Amino acid sequence: MKLVLLGPPGAGKGTQASRIVDKYNVVHISTGDIFRKNLSENTPLGKKAKEYMDQGLLVPDDVTVEMVEDRLSWPDITDGYMLDGFPRTISQAESLDKILDKAGDKLDLALCIEADYSLLTKRITGRRMCKCGETYHVEFHPPKVEGICDKCGGELYQRDDDKEDTVVKRLKEYEEKTQPLVDYYEKQNILKTVNGSRTVDEVFEDISKILDECK
Ligand code: AP5
Ligand code: ZN
Repeated sequence: MKLVLLGPPGAGKGTQASRIVDKYNVVHISTGDIFRKNLSENTPLGKKAKEYMDQGLLVPDDVTVEMVEDRLSWPDITDGYMLDGFPRTISQAESLDKILDKAGDKLDLALCIEADYSLLTKRITGRRMCKCGETYHVEFHPPKVEGICDKCGGELYQRDDDKEDTVVKRLKEYEEKTQPLVDYYEKQNILKTVNGSRTVDEVFEDISKILDECK
């Protein structure tokens, strides 16, 4: 199964991705996570991405597409993958189609998690992350012990781009550049949408139904 996860910042893509990976045999490829890893290792790619991420802007398409194309050449993805946070522009979607086409492949599903705009800022500013990939929320999904990851015991931290003024810019970028992808995948007849404004379990139940049909 090859799928892309769409949805505005804070809709719950990362949260649901970690559940999808636990239940289905797909490799999780998050462009945001790859950029953050490069950033923490201070690589040239990380330094380049930081210029944009800190401002809540999208990293340029050429940089992002090259990075994804490289990731899709790794041998671990033969059983399927889930792209999270990519594509994010029409140009990225067209590039992905070309990469898949070259390999004689195609996407099975574009899964869009929608959520009320009023919820998104609250979700993002209250988010806390762990290095192991788990995501928490101070109010909606708190860890058992404050500031400590339930899964690995690691210390939780806040993402640099989760401050309120950066979040406003990220949401604007989404509306202008990423929202058009909903139509793009609808035209390809592979779009499914779930309502992400409900609890994590309810959203995952809907996603599971869709993925079970797609297997
Ligand atoms: P990226 O890391 O992809 O961030 P994003 O798309 O902005 O999405 P988020 O990670 O903020 O939200 P999410 O939907 O994963 O929500 P989450 O599950 O954490 O991108 C970051 C940056 O990298 C971009 O701004 C850009 O600069 C760059 N970038 C990345 N990809 C790029 C690309 N393709 N092209 C160009 N640039 C790119 O949930 C949020 C919070 O809500 C959490 O605290 C969670 O616990 C809580 N929560 C989740 N679900 C629920 C629920 N159902 N009920 C209550 N709380 C919930
Ligand atoms: Zn952890």
